[in-house]
Amino acid sequence: MSQQVITAQGVYSGYGDAEVLRGVSLRLDQGEIVGLIGPNGVGKTTLLKCMAGLMPIGSGQLRVFERDVVASSTLELRLAGLGYVPQERNVFPNLSVRENLETAYRVAGKRAAAIDIDERMAFVEALFPRLAERRSQHAGLMSGGEQRMVALGMGLMLKPQALLLDEPTTGLAPIVVYELMRAIRKLRESEGISILIVEQNIASMLKVVDRLYIMKENVCREFEGEPADLGRQNIWEYL
Ligand SMILES: Nc1ncnc2c1ncn2[C@@H]1O[C@H](COP(=O)(O)OP(=O)(O)O)[C@@H](O)[C@H]1O
Ligand SMILES: [Mg+2]
Repeated sequence: MSQQVITAQGVYSGYGDAEVLRGVSLRLDQGEIVGLIGPNGVGKTTLLKCMAGLMPIGSGQLRVFERDVVASSTLELRLAGLGYVPQERNVFPNLSVRENLETAYRVAGKRAAAIDIDERMAFVEALFPRLAERRSQHAGLMSGGEQRMVALGMGLMLKPQALLLDEPTTGLAPIVVYELMRAIRKLRESEGISILIVEQNIASMLKVVDRLYIMKENVCREFEGEPADLGRQNIWEYL
């Protein structure tokens, strides 16, 4: 049986009285790339935040690397190998590219000692050569696509075994979308990272995912069949 990296079972969550997730189930296995799509406001970001330990869960079960997310802190989950790249463009505009990457490493303090910062820096710069070229540039002065590369690089600094990516390519030019998707596939190939990706660029994403979930009306269901086949059908029927 394949090893489960993330399992959500009947998860309920929301903001105050507003229930956003009503019994969401989803799993991510070792070495998989899994896609999650759904209309705006359906709760995709909320689900990722629950997984990253940033949102309380009303009921249901959520396990990451065999740990109960409710009983773990965000930092514990990070150090256990969960990387999270939020939807917001999360870079420090006044820090250089290098300083952004370093900061993502330093948040873990002494507990990151087992991870080699130089190795991580070299890994990120090999994945995104543009970041090596622009090492000392202020992140705020980079293009949208480059800032997403910085954000993704930050998510890789603590050497994750699994990554949650929230719309990494929204609003980017097609060539940059292609570059980022290629980098995502490379992450699985080179480091065996399991990836859960929420995307609006559905056609590009369908080419890289093994399985696909569709979120609709506060629940999640798995698309039956090859994700690539969905591209040949009317996606909007499913949303
Ligand atoms: N911080 C918040 N406080 C209150 N409601 C929120 C907050 N963030 C999101 N919501 C609401 O929760 C619902 C789901 O949002 P979200 O998870 O961001 O959806 P998606 O990522 O699928 O677009 C939306 O109705 C949104 O307005
Ligand atoms: Mg969202």
